[in-house]
Amino acid sequence: MANQIAKKRIEELRTVIQKHNYQYYVLDNPTISDSDYDALYKELVALEKENPEFITEDSPTQKVGGVILQGFQKIEHDTPMLSLSNAFSKEDLIQFDKRIKDSIHQEVAYTCELKIDGLAISLKYVNGKFVTGATRGDGRIGEDITQNLKTISSIPLKLQENITLEARGECFMPKSAFVSLNEQRELLGEPIFANPRNAAAGSLRQLDSAITAKRQLDVFLYGGDIPSIDTQEQLLQALKQVGLKINPETKIYRSIDDVWSYIETISQERQNLPYDIDGIVIKVNDFQQREEIGYTVKAPKWAIAYKFPAEEVQTKILDIQWTVGRTGVVTPTAIMEPVFVAGSTVQRASLHNVDLLKEKDIRLGDTVILHKAGDIIPEIKTVLLEKRPKQSVVYDIPTHCPECQSQLVHLQDEVALRCINPHCAAQIKEGVSHFVSRQAMAILGMGTKISAKIFDAHLIEDVADLYYLTLEQLLELDKVQEKTATNLLTSIDNSRHHSMEKLLFGLGIRHVGSKQAQQLSSAFGSIQALRQATIEELVAIDGIGMVIAESVVTYFKLPEVHVLLEKLEKAHVNMTYTGIQKSDVAQSVLTDKTVVLTGKLERFTRTQASEYIVKLGGKVTGSVSAKTDIVIAGEDAGSKLEKAKALNILVWSEDDLHRLIEEHIESIGG
Ligand code: IVH
Repeated sequence: MANQIAKKRIEELRTVIQKHNYQYYVLDNPTISDSDYDALYKELVALEKENPEFITEDSPTQKVGGVILQGFQKIEHDTPMLSLSNAFSKEDLIQFDKRIKDSIHQEVAYTCELKIDGLAISLKYVNGKFVTGATRGDGRIGEDITQNLKTISSIPLKLQENITLEARGECFMPKSAFVSLNEQRELLGEPIFANPRNAAAGSLRQLDSAITAKRQLDVFLYGGDIPSIDTQEQLLQALKQVGLKINPETKIYRSIDDVWSYIETISQERQNLPYDIDGIVIKVNDFQQREEIGYTVKAPKWAIAYKFPAEEVQTKILDIQWTVGRTGVVTPTAIMEPVFVAGSTVQRASLHNVDLLKEKDIRLGDTVILHKAGDIIPEIKTVLLEKRPKQSVVYDIPTHCPECQSQLVHLQDEVALRCINPHCAAQIKEGVSHFVSRQAMAILGMGTKISAKIFDAHLIEDVADLYYLTLEQLLELDKVQEKTATNLLTSIDNSRHHSMEKLLFGLGIRHVGSKQAQQLSSAFGSIQALRQATIEELVAIDGIGMVIAESVVTYFKLPEVHVLLEKLEKAHVNMTYTGIQKSDVAQSVLTDKTVVLTGKLERFTRTQASEYIVKLGGKVTGSVSAKTDIVIAGEDAGSKLEKAKALNILVWSEDDLHRLIEEHIESIGG
């Protein structure tokens, strides 16, 4: 009987959560708070864990991924996925309009849709259930990427109605997700993606769907075989109604002049869209007219894609700078004459690695074509050979480290050029910056300038030496006042008590990001235990693969690491896993207060802000109610702020929180 109650509740929760997902992802209009949603979701997870026999494939909990495939199966599309012919000018559009009018001799309405720069996908639903998803492939046969598509939040596993349909659309990575993915990859020494489109493609082609699940992909649908539909406009509304996400910017016009004005407006505004578009798709709205106009083998004659000219500019290479990162990788950056491109002035472009520099044969004085990859990251596309100065010579790749002058090496299988001198000043300085950063030991007040000063004055040789610094030593440094010095020492002192994961991340082991540090720390509990871990023990941990495991084992074998850890231990730096410690919690005006964060924060991530609030004695919740004591509102705060005002709840700015943190920095340890 109890079983039947659980079954009923699971079914209820599934339906309610599906409804909330629809409200949130498709209608962009959530009707419950994040924390209430989380509570429902957690309840479902717990009930399904106890009663696994009631888990259905369309349960919202089945979106986390984890299915690992050997390869992708082929899927033949029921009807071919066609492509579009292109237009590059107003003239091309006038021609297109003329061809249509010549063919049907009628007035025509056009829908103008954004041409999302991602990958075409097809989603099959049978009786409302998501059954398969595929790439376009060659148009006739695509690849079965069902498991990966299932993890995308805006693809429902169950529709709002029990209908059978094949929907088509575009899968893409929003610009913000692309930027943070690349930041993370750069940190871990992994190759970065050139643009959001490549990142989306790479994410959809993962054999392990748990990886796709983390990539924050999104979709817009624009096609589907829903019966009794007469126009594109109706089709889009019907897709939305059954639970699929459509793009909100679509417009209908009755003349090519109006279409052109729309194109001009979007060209101006596309920088501000949260995703990349590469054009506008113009489609005849009426389906009957479409049939009369017809198709070529490859594309419909009733639609055309206007492609934006890629924003490209010319500039000159003034210099190539080489910087040494904390892992010794030496990276070239092109310094150029400043130019305005895709919304901002650019004068530096990373060349990523020495092979790229050689491959593009970039030379000093060269005129180059510059664009922004994914409209964001400055990238040199090509050199204009016809503008190359006559006396130009091939750029001399450095053979020695720009910082310590030791010989550079080009390791096999690596695109990077490396300085392998463990005493290289640039590497150590970068290593110190990383060690003191917020996510690592969070030694506030220790900026790059002051840490460089300390290093240059030979007060430290490695990060452990930070814990042996004295007030007298710091006061001898140029322009360092007593207050700054004491604050810094307190900050260093407090960092001794952090839980192990911050130290582990701070050590800067290759491939160990903050997330891996957290996983390793909670699994092993102490640096001591981790030092003795074998590859087998490491890979047995969720989220730790062979590359990370090997890197960890190699790191802990290094003799200089033994010395470093001994020094840290002697300085009483905590090496065990404790999570947030009680001793870190301060008495403050936030003690026992319930706080809600809302809006965009500039100085902190949400997690950091929440962590500080907890350390200051407060509790963070998701929704504003009569029980809320303080609402901290960042930029663009919306309904939560309104509600706080209505309930007469104290509202703080982000600066107020920052001030409080500064006041208590000594007791909460950064
Ligand atoms: S319609 C038969 N609409 O552009 C119609 N395509 O070169 C086929 N795309 O493969 C496509 N946004 O990947 C259509 N609103 C939109 C689109 C769109 C992006 C992509 C799609 C297609 C390619 C056509």
